[in-house]
Amino acid sequence: MFGTESPPEAKAGIEDVDLDGRTALVTGSTSGLGREAALALGRLGASVIVHGRNREAGERVVDELEAVGADARFVAADFERPAAVSALADAVAEEFDGLDVLCNNAGGLFQDGGETELGVGRTFHINHLSPYQLTAELLPHLSAGARVVTTASVGHRIATLNLDRIANLAGLSPWAAYCRSKLANVLFANELARRLVAAGRDVTSNSLHPGIVPGSEFSRALPAPAERIGDLIGEFPMIDSVADGAATVCYLAAAPEVEGVTGRYYARCRERRPAPDATDVDAQRRLWRRSAALLDIEEPLADAVE
Ligand SMILES: NC(=O)c1ccc[n+]([C@@H]2O[C@H](COP(=O)([O-])OP(=O)(O)OC[C@H]3O[C@@H](n4cnc5c(N)ncnc54)[C@H](OP(=O)(O)O)[C@@H]3O)[C@@H](O)[C@H]2O)c1
Repeated sequence: MFGTESPPEAKAGIEDVDLDGRTALVTGSTSGLGREAALALGRLGASVIVHGRNREAGERVVDELEAVGADARFVAADFERPAAVSALADAVAEEFDGLDVLCNNAGGLFQDGGETELGVGRTFHINHLSPYQLTAELLPHLSAGARVVTTASVGHRIATLNLDRIANLAGLSPWAAYCRSKLANVLFANELARRLVAAGRDVTSNSLHPGIVPGSEFSRALPAPAERIGDLIGEFPMIDSVADGAATVCYLAAAPEVEGVTGRYYARCRERRPAPDATDVDAQRRLWRRSAALLDIEEPLADAVE
């Protein structure tokens, strides 16, 4: 199915799954993989919360979802601003009884390597710190059986892990900052999985590489043509369509065969082994605590670990 014109739900083998009565938040769904995943989840019957900064694009996705009979609404939030992330979490908590699917997908490879109001690198803040904050604030609202799905990248394999410098990316190229933030995504998803199990919560957390998608906003910012990135990283197949990329997001969000599966990393709807740095439990814990400190919030699920 990969490499064909099929929609993501067909590629993921979940076209018969019924998500009626479920609510899904897909961050970064005004375009690209997130938009494609949001539309697929809506076609399967889910109520979908569309997120991004671009209101016009978000409302267009809402219209597309309503056209296939799905309930949908758009909530804008700039992931450079912690207050905006909190407002998004509040809107979800106030308007929906419980959240069944949280797709942490917003992000990108940003050429402007400046700092945000927290004094951390912009890429690290948007790609890691904000999904961490959003997940922490939504934890009380995740339903039994909920799934948290984090869009990482194969780029995490070439990141160097230096937790002392993980937030301060001064001097790093945009690509290096991106890869480091994607390593943080996998570390975060794994630590979240462990803490949810320890807390006795019936909620799973997995991460994924969506493929290298030529023509997406993200791929236009890659340091080399998409075809070359596969060679550089040494992982095949690398080239996918937007629907291919969205398929693994949808698979982890809805496939019956991954019900209860947690703390894993996927590509093309198959489990893969992430880079050794991403499975370093001490690094996962340190990143978790560091992230809470940077945001000046209580450590989420702190009671679940010693
Ligand atoms: N495409 C690829 O080849 C590829 C490969 C590996 C991993 N990924 C990952 O896949 C995810 C989606 O990428 P994509 O290719 O679909 O990119 P995309 O088309 O550029 O979409 C990115 C989404 O993130 C949102 N976003 C960006 N900056 C934001 C901010 N400051 N605050 C809130 N939302 C923001 C955008 O919304 P607005 O524009 O409305 O703000 C948009 O909806 C990213 O996490 C990316 O790292 C992509």
